Amino acid sequence: MSETLANLSSESRQFPPPEALAAAANVKADAYEEAAGDRLAFWATQADRLTWAKKWDQVLDWSNPPFAKWFVGGELNIAYNCVDRHVEAGRGDRVAIHWEGEPGDTRTITYAELLKLVSQAANTLTDLGVGAGDRVAIYMPMIPEAAVAMLACARVGATHSVVFGGFSVSALSTRIQDADAKLVITADGGYRRGKPSALKPTVDEAVAECPSIENVLVVRRTGQDVAWTDKDKWWHETVEQASPEHKAQAFDAEHPLFILYTSGTTGKPKGILHTTGGYLTQVSYTHNAVFDLKPDTDVYWCTADIGWVTGHSYIVYGPLSNGATQVMYEGTPDTPGRDRFWQIVDKYKVSILYTAPTLIRTMMKWGDDIPAGFDLSSLRVLGSVGEPINPEAWMWYRENIGRNRTPIVDTWWQTETGGVMISPLPGVTATKPGSAMTPLPGITADVVDDQAQSVPNGGGGFLVLRDPWPSMLRTIWGDDKRFLDTYWSRFGAGAGTGDEWIYFAGDGAKKDDDGALWLLGRVDDVMLVSGHNISTTEVESALVSHPSVAEAAVVGATDPTTGQAIVAFVIPRGNVDTEGDVGDQLTVDLRNHVAKTLGPIAKPRQIMLVPELPKTRSGKIMRRLLKDVAERRSLGDVTTLQDSAVMDLISAGMKTGKSED
Ligand code: WT7
Repeated sequence: MSETLANLSSESRQFPPPEALAAAANVKADAYEEAAGDRLAFWATQADRLTWAKKWDQVLDWSNPPFAKWFVGGELNIAYNCVDRHVEAGRGDRVAIHWEGEPGDTRTITYAELLKLVSQAANTLTDLGVGAGDRVAIYMPMIPEAAVAMLACARVGATHSVVFGGFSVSALSTRIQDADAKLVITADGGYRRGKPSALKPTVDEAVAECPSIENVLVVRRTGQDVAWTDKDKWWHETVEQASPEHKAQAFDAEHPLFILYTSGTTGKPKGILHTTGGYLTQVSYTHNAVFDLKPDTDVYWCTADIGWVTGHSYIVYGPLSNGATQVMYEGTPDTPGRDRFWQIVDKYKVSILYTAPTLIRTMMKWGDDIPAGFDLSSLRVLGSVGEPINPEAWMWYRENIGRNRTPIVDTWWQTETGGVMISPLPGVTATKPGSAMTPLPGITADVVDDQAQSVPNGGGGFLVLRDPWPSMLRTIWGDDKRFLDTYWSRFGAGAGTGDEWIYFAGDGAKKDDDGALWLLGRVDDVMLVSGHNISTTEVESALVSHPSVAEAAVVGATDPTTGQAIVAFVIPRGNVDTEGDVGDQLTVDLRNHVAKTLGPIAKPRQIMLVPELPKTRSGKIMRRLLKDVAERRSLGDVTTLQDSAVMDLISAGMKTGKSED
């Protein structure tokens, strides 16, 4: 029998936590033992970090799997936990948000000011007839009002559905319709790449197709001209005129907090539903543990957009529940120059930075000399999320941004998991470049074979979660059956085998010889080459480990001899010459480099040097489109692509057949 998923690479580098950080860490090694001893008691202790209006009767009700209820009978208000309680504790003057607009304008918002804004917005929602159980769509640029809008919804018990501000009319209207939202909160526009980018016209068109919408609340950000209908209300004429007094009412721990539609690369978007008490418990705990947040001194910056789950959990709910001071940036990393991120880190003395591998690889491509020009000595913890981080990108991040001083936490999780699940703890874990290491205390993750048997160390297979966790999705909005089919029907009770309910995350993974976990990408992307299941991640990481490569994407293309053959698309680093024979030689070298690193089975049949890769709006590589190119098919659906011109560039390169042999 062939292995479930091949384990080809090995990594011997390892970095223990800095001593001072380890000595003062929020969470130490004993947390693992404590949680293993009594998982539910552990999570109850973490729930006690929050302020509850009514204590729960039961930590977990798992009597109707896979529909979990956490902190049954408990009541709390999320906005109270994120804002009011810090002000009540005398910390109203602490900065909650250092906001940096793309054009360079700034705002500083303290917790006291945030309380005022959220209270005013909550009063406005009530005036507009929005209350507990209603749905609100939020379609905003990265401005403080986006966070205020989310918190105001949570405060009055309305369920928000944030739709990424780059999505189209049809993406917005289908999401509004699926959730049956009553209100849209938006802005005239936001700044992107040096100019105002309009949002309101998209909302106008979407709302015309959505009779459920009663009102549209519009923040004035850019001042550009907007069309106006009788549903529209200016934020500054409503929210900013409303009373700043609002008493938060407590809601049930299982009250629906938000719906977030997954940015999947295919199929109808799934409305992932998260609820109140368990969600806040896990995002608050993990934000404290994984980033070692010291709220009195740290300046935290998560570069994600609020439209993704990372923005929900680690810009809004996690950091604010912990009373953090954070940076929020409106624009793109290359405006006005490619040094904008490092300028911001230097300016605000950012101490914790949380970003994505796609950005790290972009920075690698732009060159080491850009960050080298800045004082980055304030940084003390670096984080990564969204995709597997290739070992070389991890090393680049460590050396060029962390200056070999700071731990890196590679955090694995999903929109569905709500909060981080697998990650190092910065004061405990000796990290390996490219590995998310181990499940956090209180989390049970495993790698299994086809038969749901745990694979031994050194083996690869399917990543699964064996026990319910507090911030797990509760269902797919309006579609319990799809929830069961998508996540629970591959293994265990949901597949009709045994009593154990096993959540299948859709990712491949392996355990190394020490049992550390390595994420290997989506199982749908696995390539079957001469009977071996080879992960795209391992081949991509082998390519990125070559000094001339910044970024790589590989796909399995149909091949008459091997079943599938590996085709690689490679972006060279900024300083690498790729003209003519030099480029041809590089592709030969790269094929040999992969064969040497992983073995001949992983040698790409063909390598394309390309200027860009197709990515989703959240920065994930869309291998499906590359497969179309590699198999010389016409392209499938490109509507979720960040920049559709990229595919023309790649296809044009493909026709020259540069590196085929
Ligand atoms: C998928 C979830 C989690 C917030 C942002 C993405 C991939 C995420 C990692 C990581 C390897 C990762 C997985 C996962 N992913 N983090 N640290 N290492 N892969 O949320 O859009 O729901 O995507 O992103 O494939 O299943 P999402």
